[in-house]
Amino acid sequence: MNEALARAESLIRTIPDYPEPGILFRDITPLLADGAALTAVIDAMIEPFAGTFDVVAGVEARGFLLAGAVAMRADVGLVPIRKAGKLPRPAASVDYALEYGTATIEAHDDIADGTRVLLVDDVLATGGTLVAAHELVGALGGVVVGTAVLMELEALGGRAAVGDVCSVFTA
Ligand code: PRP
Repeated sequence: MNEALARAESLIRTIPDYPEPGILFRDITPLLADGAALTAVIDAMIEPFAGTFDVVAGVEARGFLLAGAVAMRADVGLVPIRKAGKLPRPAASVDYALEYGTATIEAHDDIADGTRVLLVDDVLATGGTLVAAHELVGALGGVVVGTAVLMELEALGGRAAVGDVCSVFTA
């Protein structure tokens, strides 16, 4: 890892017992607030996929913070993957399991058939969100060429569910 990325990683704040007792929350807001750190992580998210994607699909909500920057830096567009009920004309929706209950993500049909899509999110935990996002992009006719996350929480095993993911940091 280069010096800029090592510094960026040091800016991620670990907060115990948030949002619930026993959870170790990784707060990326100090990293986002630092221009050099933000540039370093965005470049690291793009680098493995440079030139291979036509559009970025970013997952609500924290994924949006990175996906917009990735799209601008790579000079491509952005398709938001939103939680249920936020879009006026969702063309596809996918339900997925949470620890308790289910969640739904939706997107508009702004992905032409065969469009090469880079999925972007902040954190890979169990992988449920990104598996559902992958399915959603496929339902719209897009082709997922890669998945980039800022941080992978290895102990939660998401990589086994999602498959090939590039994570800038691992915890
Ligand atoms: C968080 C995170 C990922 C997801 C990862 O989203 O931003 O999208 O969980 O978890 P998984 O791999 O177990 O699916 P969350 O909806 O909690 O919060 P946010 O709206 O603040 O991004």
